[in-house]
Amino acid sequence: SNDAIAIAIDGPAAAGKSTVAKIVAQELSYIYIDTGAMYRAITFKALEQKVKLDDETTLIDLLVHTDIELKHGQSVLLDEQDVTHEIRSEMVSNNVSHVAKHPEIRIEMVKRQQELAKKRGVVMDGRDIGTHVIPDAEVKVFLIATVEERAKRRYEENLKKGFSSNLEQLKKEIEQRDLIDTKREAAPLLKADDAIEIDTTSLSINDVASLILSEVEKVTNG
Ligand code: CDP
Ligand code: CDP
Repeated sequence: SNDAIAIAIDGPAAAGKSTVAKIVAQELSYIYIDTGAMYRAITFKALEQKVKLDDETTLIDLLVHTDIELKHGQSVLLDEQDVTHEIRSEMVSNNVSHVAKHPEIRIEMVKRQQELAKKRGVVMDGRDIGTHVIPDAEVKVFLIATVEERAKRRYEENLKKGFSSNLEQLKKEIEQRDLIDTKREAAPLLKADDAIEIDTTSLSINDVASLILSEVEKVTNG
């Protein structure tokens, strides 16, 4: 439509960003861009190639020679290979923040993400979308939930995938990742001043999606 906008969704791990972003995008016939998947994809490749994750020079050289494609907000292609499932592994989850904290890596990723967001009618989720990637997004949302609830969500997600995990362990891993994401120098996880914060701890997925869609309505019909 004429008034297609950009919607930025940020927040800590397992706050429900991607689940809700997909629903919102579908409702509005917008494209969905999962920026976390991009950081996960380069992390997966770096681990495969045994690149030291604190070696920023080698990592950036790897990234500029890497093609990452997000297909219909669903599958992730790394140099044309489907890595949709591989990038969700525990190994990648526990290493991705170490890759994402490098300023040069972020500069290259943000450049690619801004190119993708040029086409309005976009829902993008991550950690720095409202603050850095699309600072002029018409709707900015910051999703939070208690770490206990977030660990429980990942635990249940794992059960659905058919494997059991340790809840306390998951909680520790989430806390560790949030800590690195929040404390890093370059574009840390942070609520934008003009973002609406939604505590999703006791909200359903549809509750959260409805809240965001009503914000969109205000902006596009106001
Ligand atoms: O889905 P989940 O919350 O587990 O994480 P994700 O969105 O897939 O992001 C994985 C990691 O990528 C985050 O923990 C950050 O370290 C990094 N990331 C980032 O730094 N900036 C973004 N815009 C998106 C993700
Ligand atoms: O993208 P992010 O890491 O923020 O979270 P997600 O992967 O979208 O959501 C993590 C899990 O929480 C998913 O299995 C969702 O179904 C679930 N969820 C929920 O139970 N209640 C919500 N309000 C939002 C998500």
